Amino acid sequence: MAESQVPAFFQDLISWYAFESLAVGHRAGLVEALLAGPGGSGEIAARAGADPRATANWLAVMVAAGYATHAAGRFSVADDAVSFLSAQLPGVDSLALLDFALALGTRTPQIVEATRAGAAVPGLFACDFGAAVVRTSAPMYRNMLLRSWIAAIPTVGARLEAGARVVDVGCGDGTAVRVLGAAYPASSFVGVDSDPDAVAVANRGVSPDNVSFSGVEPDVADVILVFDSFHHFSRPGELLARWRSALREDGVLVVAEPSWSGELDVDSSDRGSVIGLACTFLYCDVEGRTGEPDLEPISPLDGGRALRAALAVAGFDDVVAHEVANGYRLYVAR
Ligand SMILES: C[S@@+](CC[C@H](N)C(=O)[O-])C[C@H]1O[C@@H](n2cnc3c(N)ncnc32)[C@H](O)[C@@H]1O
Repeated sequence: MAESQVPAFFQDLISWYAFESLAVGHRAGLVEALLAGPGGSGEIAARAGADPRATANWLAVMVAAGYATHAAGRFSVADDAVSFLSAQLPGVDSLALLDFALALGTRTPQIVEATRAGAAVPGLFACDFGAAVVRTSAPMYRNMLLRSWIAAIPTVGARLEAGARVVDVGCGDGTAVRVLGAAYPASSFVGVDSDPDAVAVANRGVSPDNVSFSGVEPDVADVILVFDSFHHFSRPGELLARWRSALREDGVLVVAEPSWSGELDVDSSDRGSVIGLACTFLYCDVEGRTGEPDLEPISPLDGGRALRAALAVAGFDDVVAHEVANGYRLYVAR
C-alpha cells in the first residue's frame, strides 16, 4: 500500500513506534554511536556500550523508519536525518524533543487525571519533564531572539541598548536571558522562574555578569519579558496587574505567545498543527489550570483575544502585536 493510502491512524502508529524507538536509542547512546560513522551492528553496539542483540533490533527499526540506511551489513545515518539526529536545527533542539517525548509518556496518568478534573496536577512539570521542555527552545533563542524577535521591536531593542532593568518571568533554563545579557551589556537582567529546579539549572549555566536568576520577581523593572510562558500561568489577571505596577511609568511588557489565528478551521488545516495543538492539550494548558474560571491561564488558541482583554483590564492601553520567527507573536504592551 502506498504511504498516502495508509489511514491516518496507522500512519500515526507507525510514527509513534519510530519516534519511541528513536528516543530509547538516544537515551541508550545508540543514536550517537550511529552518528559516529558507518559500521556493522556489533560495532555500533560496542561504541554505545549496548547489548548487541538489542542494537540489531534497534537498527532494523531505524532502517524501516528511514533514519538509517543499510548496505552489506553496515549501517549509516540517512543523509536527511543527520541534522535532526545531531541537534543542528536552528529553531528546536531535536534531541531534547526525544527526551521530552519519553518524559511526557511517564506523565500520562497525571494528564488523564487533569483532563477529567479540569485542574492542574502537581508534579507534572517536575525535573526531567520541565527540563526537557525548556531545552527544546534553546536553539530558537540562540538563533532567532536577536535576529527576528528583538529586530521586530526596535523600540524595545533601543531600550535594552541604552540600559534597562529587565525581568524575564518564566525563564526556564535561562537561555534567552543569557543571549540578551551578552548582547546588551548596559542592561541588567533577572530571570525568574517559580520552579526551583529551573532556577538551579539556569544558575549552573555560564552567564554574563549582568545576568542573575531568582525564584522571586523584583519589585521594579523597565522591561518585563514573558517568553512562551504566559499560557502556563494561573491567576493571569493578578500577574498582569502586578507587572503593571512593577513597571516604571515608561516601562514595557513583552509577551511572546504561539501565533494562533483563533479560527479553528484555519489553525487545524495543516496536519503539522497537531504538534502545537497537542502541546496545549497535553501539558501547556494543564500546568496552570485551577478549575476556577477567573483564575484559569489564558490560552493562546483564541488568537490573543482574551490576552488583549486582560491587558486592557490591567491598564495596558497600548498593545501592538508582531509576528516573529518560529510561529510566535510578540505582544508589546505599555
Ligand atoms: C514552557 S516553559 C518556558 C520557559 C522559557 N521561557 C522558554 O521559552 O524556554 C514555562 C516556564 O514557566 C515557569 N512558570 C510556570 N508558572 C510560573 C509562574 N507563576 N511564575 C514564574 N514562572 C512560572 C515554568 O516553571 C517553566 O519554566
